[in-house]
Amino acid sequence: MSSDEDVAAVSRHSYFIGKKENIIQARRVVKSVGERDVLVIYHKGDFYAIDVRCYHSGGPLQEGDIEKDFDGRTCLVCPWHKYKITLAEGEGLYQAVDPSVKPLKPTWCSKGIKQRVHTVTVSNEDVFLTLNNSPGPIDSDYYQTEKYRNTFLKEGQKKTK
Ligand code: FES
Repeated sequence: MSSDEDVAAVSRHSYFIGKKENIIQARRVVKSVGERDVLVIYHKGDFYAIDVRCYHSGGPLQEGDIEKDFDGRTCLVCPWHKYKITLAEGEGLYQAVDPSVKPLKPTWCSKGIKQRVHTVTVSNEDVFLTLNNSPGPIDSDYYQTEKYRNTFLKEGQKKTK
């Protein structure tokens, strides 16, 4: 692929999502880009982008806390059932205990990538989102289908009435 084709491919999947200063102030914004709903987060000097509905059961990750108590990894904690999702990679974390090791001591383990994460770039104070179109499926894709996007949209509209 030539460098011209590279630029075209990037621009087809990149979206302007706002001014850097505005997103830093808001800390979190949810954007519908292409056929996905994505949560963009500014946290401690870095931008992150992740599918907005939790891979487990569609929970609203924009309402989740951000914590760093999971082996030093920063996670978004889903407000519905408290699943931990690493902000940078979208890995699902869980605690496990090896019963053969005494005293019992829980350790954090990974379920692998469960939530699709996307790329945020900043150029001249503008923030752009590039969708991660890597071949799936990734579990969070399930809640990005038209059926679920419409369901969640309607629920959101009911709450704001
Ligand atoms: S919906 Fe997120 S943990 Fe269940």
